[in-house]
Amino acid sequence: MSNTNYSPTDTVAWRNLKHLSQVETDTRITELFDAEVDRAQRMSLHAGELFLDYSKNLVSQNVWQELIALANESNLLTHRDAMFCGDPINHTENRAVLHAALRSEPSDLKTSEAQDRNAIIKKQLEQVRQLSEKVRNGSWHGSTGKSITDVVNIGIGGSDLGPKLACSALSEFSLSSINIHFIANVDGAEILTTLAKLDPETTLVAIASKTFTTQETLLNAKTALDWFEETLGLKNAQTSVHFIALTASPSNALAYGISQSQILEFAEWVGGRYSLWSSIGLSIAISIGFSRFSEMLAGAREMDLHFQNAPIDQNMPVIMALLGIWYGNFLGAQSTAVIPYCERMQLLPSYLQQLDMESNGKATSLEGQTITYNTGAIVWGQTGTNGQHAFFQLLHQGTRLVPIDFIAAVKDSLSNNEHHRVLIGNMLGQSSALMKGQSAPEGQPHRHYAGNKPSNTLLMNSLSAKNFGALIALYEHKVFVQGSIWNINSFDQWGVELGKNMANKLLDPDLDYGSLDASTKNLFKHMNKIT
Ligand code: F6P
Repeated sequence: MSNTNYSPTDTVAWRNLKHLSQVETDTRITELFDAEVDRAQRMSLHAGELFLDYSKNLVSQNVWQELIALANESNLLTHRDAMFCGDPINHTENRAVLHAALRSEPSDLKTSEAQDRNAIIKKQLEQVRQLSEKVRNGSWHGSTGKSITDVVNIGIGGSDLGPKLACSALSEFSLSSINIHFIANVDGAEILTTLAKLDPETTLVAIASKTFTTQETLLNAKTALDWFEETLGLKNAQTSVHFIALTASPSNALAYGISQSQILEFAEWVGGRYSLWSSIGLSIAISIGFSRFSEMLAGAREMDLHFQNAPIDQNMPVIMALLGIWYGNFLGAQSTAVIPYCERMQLLPSYLQQLDMESNGKATSLEGQTITYNTGAIVWGQTGTNGQHAFFQLLHQGTRLVPIDFIAAVKDSLSNNEHHRVLIGNMLGQSSALMKGQSAPEGQPHRHYAGNKPSNTLLMNSLSAKNFGALIALYEHKVFVQGSIWNINSFDQWGVELGKNMANKLLDPDLDYGSLDASTKNLFKHMNKIT
């Protein structure tokens, strides 16, 4: 049963963790390894083809037991069941949270309601299959009868980051005859320079927007419409074969002029940052083919089943979430770094920024109280080895605690043995050096490496579509577990509204300058002098 008066800070485990963080101040990870001969084996696990080693963490066995106790004392398990059942756990928007349903199979579903939902999902995915195959095999023609060579996905946030990451991560499987472009920013230079390189006769625009009301997306779409008119003389191109809508608001897309058969719908209970599994993933299916897109869904489903069935202390998302809570709530870490040793995964940190920070950057509890403990961490990072030559200095010798997730594929068929050995050797070298440190030679204190810097290492057998799907679902569930333990709603995003409203106010031609704050007024004054 869910405890409605729950706050993590009231649990026995939280108090014990607080105490342990005050008494175990000189824990050395290397000493934990000395004391526990089987630490590396005990603190590592598989889920499908993902392998997590979490032994290089600043976590004694006492701490670990209390972290597990914290998960057990929280509402995590009832909350998890409520999510998978379709209860409206996003209470501020009165919505269910069912992105996992997009990758479920009939055998996973217990109720007839879930089976009916699954039938609708399969129909929507079937539309993705049909359209993506037509584009891929050249049978989707532009208005002058030519096959499509370029797809422009216009969308922002979750309608951009997931598909863009997936297309890049899985580029090994992409079809060379079709180029996929992503336009997110309202910065006109982005869309204008992209369109300038394209042939309108062979370009398909996918307007990706859950709400179909997003300012940036609609302005970029308008610029694309103007381009079709200027270059092809095609008026109202939104009604033509050149425009597709990917949306949970089909009525808005219809009102915009997109024809019914070109609106690929998904359900309102798919959060924007969880939408790459839905028709928002059309560009992924066009790029890698629908069967590989389905493999991505299957990998995510495998992680869903692991999350639902594995015991708490053998549950990969739970383990990663608890480690983050230990660092953020008890050891004072403000941020966490994600370092994929794979250039094709360079967009993973940006993707995880939205997933994690838009989900868990909250300070109001489920009961509407102001929260007094830390919630979501600042997520940042970039690929290794590049980061080693940029910010690793701070990780090795700086003053801040930054837990790291190192991520790599054990095999990479796009690389060769020589490169891959060096790449992976660097990753393992970094995590080991960060943990072990090194004392300074006499008289050279600047060469002191304190060590004791914690990290996880996540290995995938290879960067297949399936393993990529599992990896993304792993982080989705990690974020969910943290939100459950922190007792926050991980599925709304009210924080972005105020800034949007303010921008709209400033764009109003009848803006009352007198109502502006002094700094903004001054900035306007400066710009007016220049323009
Ligand atoms: O403003 C934040 C946000 O609502 C994100 O949550 C979402 O992914 C993005 O904007 C784009 O929204 P839409 O898909 O409705 O255009």
